[in-house]
Amino acid sequence: MNTYKIAVVPGDGIGPEVTSSAIEVLKAVAAKCGFEMTFEEYKVGGSAIDEYGHPLPEAALEGCRASDAVLLGAVGGPKWDSVEPALRPERALLGLRAGLGLYSNLRPALLFEELASASPLKNVSAIDLLIVRELTGGIYFGEHGRYDSDDVLSDGSVKGKVAYDTESYSEGEIERIVREGFRFAMGRGKKLTVVDKANVLESSRLWREIAEKIAPEYPEVALDYLYVDNCSMQLINRPSDFDVIVTSNMFGDILSDEAGMITGSIGMLPSASLGAPGTPGMYEPVHGSAPDIAGTGKANPLATILSAAMLLRWSLNETEASDLIEAAVKKTLADGFRTPDIYSGVGDIPVNTSEMTQKVLERL
Ligand code: IPM
Ligand code: MG
Repeated sequence: MNTYKIAVVPGDGIGPEVTSSAIEVLKAVAAKCGFEMTFEEYKVGGSAIDEYGHPLPEAALEGCRASDAVLLGAVGGPKWDSVEPALRPERALLGLRAGLGLYSNLRPALLFEELASASPLKNVSAIDLLIVRELTGGIYFGEHGRYDSDDVLSDGSVKGKVAYDTESYSEGEIERIVREGFRFAMGRGKKLTVVDKANVLESSRLWREIAEKIAPEYPEVALDYLYVDNCSMQLINRPSDFDVIVTSNMFGDILSDEAGMITGSIGMLPSASLGAPGTPGMYEPVHGSAPDIAGTGKANPLATILSAAMLLRWSLNETEASDLIEAAVKKTLADGFRTPDIYSGVGDIPVNTSEMTQKVLERL
């Protein structure tokens, strides 16, 4: 029997609640499909700052490296807002991404038919797109710093303190992520949109050059380009037209929040972060730690449960188990069960975090 080693990083806020829901579902599906999973927990983020004085203890990173896949909840919260930047809870996420070499971030935005009324868009029908976000380069990891300047500005004032962050991309970094974009487009609707700011940024122009170079290898994929400002508009205007979007770290961060929102179900969206083949991937809900509702039972566990389904599919190749979870979630929604974030009244059956988890388990 196959045994998989899963590193669990519950994190802060609602992270522990939603990861424990996903673990229950993983255990059930493993028993059903005939494989075993072991779960080793590591503290990172705010909870690790509290216990070890560091958001990403070496042992946690090592534990994740030695696993088959990582399941993460969410990190951060107002409690740690005043800690110095290098030790903020978010550093744990960036450290895991860099430390595990997770350059490819998959953020599907799917409108569940049953939840269409929760979308802020009028007359929305089908949204089923995938954002492939570059995750270990660009402005997040470029040179940054501060200095003082005595230079004088055009209005006569002095510059004073200067802070800078650098957007820089290499051919190698762009090529591997754009290739991911093409690969996923091949497995879906065969449409790829490269999103950039090539009218202004040199790094974006390199993205386009490289996409043009790779395109002939994927003649079936319709390739187009959008400037990021226009893309943010088109996501609202014609969301159904998108299939796969591939973009930089920063643009992907921003557009994935927007794409999540228009599906009306930010509490429903999973994500995967993948590195080189054969290395552990990391799976987490797109929503954050939501400290305001932590411990109240209001958190929607479905994004993390669907992240677990992605884990089975992309890291363990247990596609049947993955399909079963996704089908159980669909059925749970079709049967009307709703946590507060997706509750819209008539016909909906309100449930809390653990009840929602039970409903999914019953349908498995
Ligand atoms: C995300 C988050 C992170 C990011 C933060 C918490 C560092 O917004 O995963 O989208 O900017 O990547
Ligand atoms: Mg974000």
